[in-house]
Amino acid sequence: MTDLTLNILLETPEDAAAIERLYERTFGPGRFARTSYRIREEMAHRPELSFTARIGTLLVGSVRQTKIRIGETPALLLGPLTIEPPFRHHGIGKALIERALAEARRHGHRLVVLVGDVPYYGRCGFARIPKGQVTMPGPVDPARLLVAELADGAFAGVSGAIRPDWDQESEVRSQESEEGTGHLP
Ligand SMILES: CC(C)(COP(=O)(O)OP(=O)(O)OC[C@H]1O[C@@H](n2cnc3c(N)ncnc32)[C@H](O)[C@@H]1OP(=O)(O)O)[C@@H](O)C(=O)NCCC(=O)NCCS
Repeated sequence: MTDLTLNILLETPEDAAAIERLYERTFGPGRFARTSYRIREEMAHRPELSFTARIGTLLVGSVRQTKIRIGETPALLLGPLTIEPPFRHHGIGKALIERALAEARRHGHRLVVLVGDVPYYGRCGFARIPKGQVTMPGPVDPARLLVAELADGAFAGVSGAIRPDWDQESEVRSQESEEGTGHLP
């Protein structure tokens, strides 16, 4: 019998091609011009904070998170979040966001930012960043730059430019090579 249960799983290297095809179908070539893409092309997403949604063996959705800094404050950039069109409106997007945020909290992260619509992401704890407090490395509609605090007051006093977090990345790389568990590309 076919298993129709929804499973939210950690992304694995074998998922990469299916996720890329999903992006192509969802965002088309315009995805390469997005400001968030500039950060993601410089820094790989974190596999321990990125998830796929599967129904049976079928990959029906994906969410990724990348380590960034806002000014000097460590944070995560959430996205892209994508659900296969026939599987939308069933709460799969919300389930992926909730799992991504729960796992981020469990790993000690305190802030998650994204570029998206507040009517959608507001249900998962995201709110607009006041205009000018945070900048992206390219044009973004300020009304779509959102933040979620994973710890009370984590966003208080935080401001500055968003950039890839090379410092955290090199710490993780050296920890992983010491442990012999490196899994970054
Ligand atoms: C946005 C997206 C991830 C939502 O996935 P989903 O699994 O359908 O989400 P959920 O089931 O959790 O929520 C669906 C609800 O959110 C609403 N919704 C979806 N996108 C919305 C938006 N941009 N603004 C406000 N509401 C939105 C839907 O109307 C739906 O409402 P309903 O439950 O009353 O029908 C999906 O539509 C998608 O992949 N879109 C294309 C890619 C994209 O825009 N990604 C987000 C930016 S990176």
